[in-house]
Amino acid sequence: MSNNAMSNNGFYPNGSASSQSILRTEHVTKTYTDGQVNALVDVSIDIHRGEYVSIMGPSGSGKSTLLNMLGMLDRPTSGEVFLDGQPVSRVKSLDQLRAQKIGFVFQSFYLLPVLSAEENVQVPMFEGTLPMNLRPQKAAELLAVVGLSHRVNHLPLQLSVGERQRVAIARALANDPILLLADEPTGNLDSKSADGVFELFARLHRERGMTIILITHSDDLGQRADRIIRMQDGHMHSDTRSPGVAMPIAANNGASNANGSSSGLGMLRPPRPKSILPPFAVPDHG
Ligand SMILES: Nc1ncnc2c1ncn2[C@@H]1O[C@H](COP(=O)(O)OP(=O)(O)OP(=O)(O)O)[C@@H](O)[C@H]1O
Ligand SMILES: [Mg+2]
Repeated sequence: MSNNAMSNNGFYPNGSASSQSILRTEHVTKTYTDGQVNALVDVSIDIHRGEYVSIMGPSGSGKSTLLNMLGMLDRPTSGEVFLDGQPVSRVKSLDQLRAQKIGFVFQSFYLLPVLSAEENVQVPMFEGTLPMNLRPQKAAELLAVVGLSHRVNHLPLQLSVGERQRVAIARALANDPILLLADEPTGNLDSKSADGVFELFARLHRERGMTIILITHSDDLGQRADRIIRMQDGHMHSDTRSPGVAMPIAANNGASNANGSSSGLGMLRPPRPKSILPPFAVPDHG
């Protein structure tokens, strides 16, 4: 089931396009029994590796419900979700699959107040496979990726709200997820911090080939994605790609970035002789 065209870290070198489906919903419906709300009605979406997708739409239109289905935080009433081609309904331990494959970012950060930035980033690693002794270094490297090398020992309350969200993004990357899902990640941020967070998502996508799906109410920020899915009354109202974006592109093979030796994200990081940070996962599944 691996794809031969793909490098072993899952990137598509030389900017070649991936047409591989990573996440797919087939006729997904979600009805909340209390009040019989049809929060999602027959939604079929195919997200490809390396895509940067924004989900937009009015309040109550089903955006969070859809993201919860995509992130396996909830199960559909009917229909099926496929991750890497595998039907999610047949997975016994969703918690484990989720922890290993998906990074989440929420509007309200959910950082643990008594833990430092670096310790917060390590929390999801308890569900991962990295040995304990390597976790602090990896957390520090992830904080460097989000531009917070100088704040590793700060508690959440000692950080600005924008910095807190960047810690949460570093935490979302802790187990090298194949997908980053964010529900209104800038909802609690001022416009400057929101801009910084969106720039960070764009760079993770562009330079690391991350597949990113995020919800935003901001037209301005949402338009920065390659693809915009608009929800309306539980239905997918439209699904459009930005002009010039034919297919998802994992621009660079992220390998050069892993050592902090290239431009862009790597520059946010102090030079390290040997990084334990993989080039942002997208591990070859199977
Ligand atoms: N647990 C629940 N029980 C009953 N109804 C729910 C539940 N969660 C959501 N809903 C309803 O489902 C619909 C879709 O909710 P959802 O949270 O997906 O909207 P949204 O587009 O994310 O809105 P917002 O922009 O305000 O976050 C709404 O009408 C909401 O009231
Ligand atoms: Mg919502």
